[in-house]
Amino acid sequence: MPPTTLPSSILVVGSGGREHALVRALLASPARPRIICAPGNAGIADEVACFPVAADDIAGLVALAQREKIEFVVVGPEVPLSLGLADRLLAAGIPVYGPKADGARLEASKIFTKQLLLKNKIPTAAAGIFSEVAPALAYLKTRGAPIVVKADGLAAGKGVVVAPTLAEAETAVHDMLAGEKFGAAGRQLLIEDCLVGEETSLLVVVSGRDYVILPTSQDHKRIGEGDTGPNTGGMGAYSPAGVVTPALLDRIEREIVRPSVDAIAAAGIDFRGTLFIGLMLTPDGPSVIEFNTRFGDPETQVVLPRLATDLLAVLWAAARGELAGTQLAVKPDHALCVVIAAKGYPENYPKGDAITLPSPLPSGVSIIHAGTAKNSSGRVVTHGGRVLGVTALAPTLRAAAARAYAVCDQIQCASKYFRRDIGARELHRR
Ligand code: AMP
Ligand code: GLY
Repeated sequence: MPPTTLPSSILVVGSGGREHALVRALLASPARPRIICAPGNAGIADEVACFPVAADDIAGLVALAQREKIEFVVVGPEVPLSLGLADRLLAAGIPVYGPKADGARLEASKIFTKQLLLKNKIPTAAAGIFSEVAPALAYLKTRGAPIVVKADGLAAGKGVVVAPTLAEAETAVHDMLAGEKFGAAGRQLLIEDCLVGEETSLLVVVSGRDYVILPTSQDHKRIGEGDTGPNTGGMGAYSPAGVVTPALLDRIEREIVRPSVDAIAAAGIDFRGTLFIGLMLTPDGPSVIEFNTRFGDPETQVVLPRLATDLLAVLWAAARGELAGTQLAVKPDHALCVVIAAKGYPENYPKGDAITLPSPLPSGVSIIHAGTAKNSSGRVVTHGGRVLGVTALAPTLRAAAARAYAVCDQIQCASKYFRRDIGARELHRR
């Protein structure tokens, strides 16, 4: 990385655990920047000033950045990116980490990404694209079950149905194309072959044709222990992911990362942000499930604490087009994050339950806030489905899990729910 002056004032956009982890990592920068957040949560507000501007209020965020003389904006969630927040900030002369709307389409349109992958012969499941019910149903019959039906647009993680039977796939097609359940997001859909294998993801900091791959991680998407029940945003994660051996990582870089970054640039997109590559490790090799155009949540909570390199310098270099030659230093420790959710998540859950956190925390453990707020009497209360993340760093994964779970047990909250088996898949590999 060439020597460059780092920004002295930063706005982080978002309100979840990912954004709390980003704020913490940026606060640790030797550049000691002033950081603000919008809209933030109760935990972020204990560390930096938070402003009540919603993450999808594009004009409000640009105005906030200008008013606060912000020199660099780091965007957490996908919605503001797809609404063109980066475009608007750049037009106002404010550097931003996070792609413009053309790059955010890689997450906001599964069809756009599928076409890019297929055109560039990057490994991914075979798929058909449909906007009418009859041809979609006919295609389902030719492929058979299990099969996957995906709404094209952003659907808050609910637009994918992995159907074990044709009947369930047909229902999904009707729900998406004929019903209004998914609104505009469901007007077109993808039907793709079901990939079998272990799932993992890779966070890649991209700047045009340059990139650096962040430490590997895996999350647990299902609500229930043993990876059962409905999908969630993620109930826990760990880093590194042992399944991604150095040899496999080389193969993923050669067959997927390098060609994807080149394909995105060749499509005319100057992508400066995180490319989150969801992968299925099939018996035939790694295959792309999806792209996201932001950091993962809760993957970020385990990846960032392992970085020994200044995160601010990396994100700033990416935003400035100066990423070439960047090498990351990574701590040998294992990180594990247990998500504390509100009972009932991912469906209906209560809000406003008081939370009492243990203090002081044992060394190597930190609590990240996600869906928390302060009530009128200043008490920290639950305010979302995923409420907190307990992250521990230790020389072994087993020790990290023990440290994190000891703290999970001490957190008091009437609606507390968490999985007891985060990391189990990895521990059983040993
Ligand atoms: P997505 O919203 O694209 O992340 O998909 C949600 C989840 O559905 C993924 O994390 C996978 O577990 C599963 N999934 C998506 N596509 C496929 C596929 N082609 N084969 C098997 N599982 C899939
Ligand atoms: N944990 C998966 C995601 O952030 O999309």
